[in-house]
Amino acid sequence: MQRFALLGAGFIGAVHAENLAAHPDVDLVFVYDIDLTRAAALADRFGGKATTNPADVFDATAVDAVFIASSTDTHAEHLRAAADAGLAVVCEKPIAPTLHEAERVVEHVEASGVFAMVDFNRRFDRDHVELKRVVDAGGVGPVELVQMSSRGPTLPPVEYLRVSGGQLRDQTVHFFDLCRWITGEDPVTVSVTGSALVDPTIAEFGDVDTSVAVLRLPSGGIVQIDSVRRTGYGYDERIEVMGADGLIESRRQPAANVALYSNAGITTSPLHKGWFERVQPTYAAALSAFVDALAAGGPSPASLRDGLNAQAIAEAATASLASGKTERIAYEGSAAP
Ligand SMILES: NC(=O)c1ccc[n+]([C@@H]2O[C@H](COP(=O)([O-])OP(=O)(O)OC[C@H]3O[C@@H](n4cnc5c(N)ncnc54)[C@H](O)[C@@H]3O)[C@@H](O)[C@H]2O)c1
Repeated sequence: MQRFALLGAGFIGAVHAENLAAHPDVDLVFVYDIDLTRAAALADRFGGKATTNPADVFDATAVDAVFIASSTDTHAEHLRAAADAGLAVVCEKPIAPTLHEAERVVEHVEASGVFAMVDFNRRFDRDHVELKRVVDAGGVGPVELVQMSSRGPTLPPVEYLRVSGGQLRDQTVHFFDLCRWITGEDPVTVSVTGSALVDPTIAEFGDVDTSVAVLRLPSGGIVQIDSVRRTGYGYDERIEVMGADGLIESRRQPAANVALYSNAGITTSPLHKGWFERVQPTYAAALSAFVDALAAGGPSPASLRDGLNAQAIAEAATASLASGKTERIAYEGSAAP
């Protein structure tokens, strides 16, 4: 049994609390939040003791691992505290609001030697896992072209977008990670174009709701990622990998895999209503992968370095959106303070 403390009892904290409570090898011992009412609400439903005292959770005599699901601006501080206490840690993305801070904290955690994972949950999507298995086995031959779509059904509230860091850091970052994970390569350059088509007011703070990023791999392979905030027809995520010997696709997922055949034609189920409906199973799968890897002594299914490198791509992509130029991606020790 691994004793877990959950940090952060907001929207995603509730998802993780349910998964922690359901996992047979996990004992949820603390739910920690600066807001005791929120912590208590989750502890009442899923177990553990509600606390607002960090000394309770960063204590290796009572806890084996912490799950950081608190607000983005707290991740770095909590990662450092977990490392200093010798606790294993899984952290929601991003590692820190700025690349420079993320670099410093990853160095700190790596130096401590604690087992760590960033919660890049889309790596645990059942169909994406199968796609990667086939690509790794050489099923499409050397990868030449990857196309990914990340298209949400409705524009999130403008108040959320204003502090999100922008579409490329907030939404596309998961797909920058998938690009590295699927191809096994760190892209060298990125070029982005984007527009605020759904709500032009978000352009006032430099954001876009519709964008295309083109990344070049060291092998010469090309990756294209389109990110859209409002489809109007449901959550539309797909990945296509074309190689020298064939193509594999992780398809758009309908909410149910049925079709109605009638005189009027063929009607199939719509896509999932929202991103959460599509990705919900990936959170439990990511947690299981963390627990299994921790028990086995590694490797991490998604290391903090993976989190850092995806953030580095998002930074270069954001710079490209602003400059209109192709930007070189700088991975190590080069982020401005
Ligand atoms: N991987 C994913 O798909 C995914 C999805 C949603 C959110 N997230 C990430 O999860 C994090 C939380 O997002 P959310 O939507 O749940 O936000 P939220 O605002 O609903 O919840 C954040 C919680 O953190 C608490 N908190 C703030 N400061 C704290 C502190 N110092 N110590 C402990 N708790 C503190 C708040 O009181 C709140 O309950 C964000 O970093 C977000 O980027 C990731």
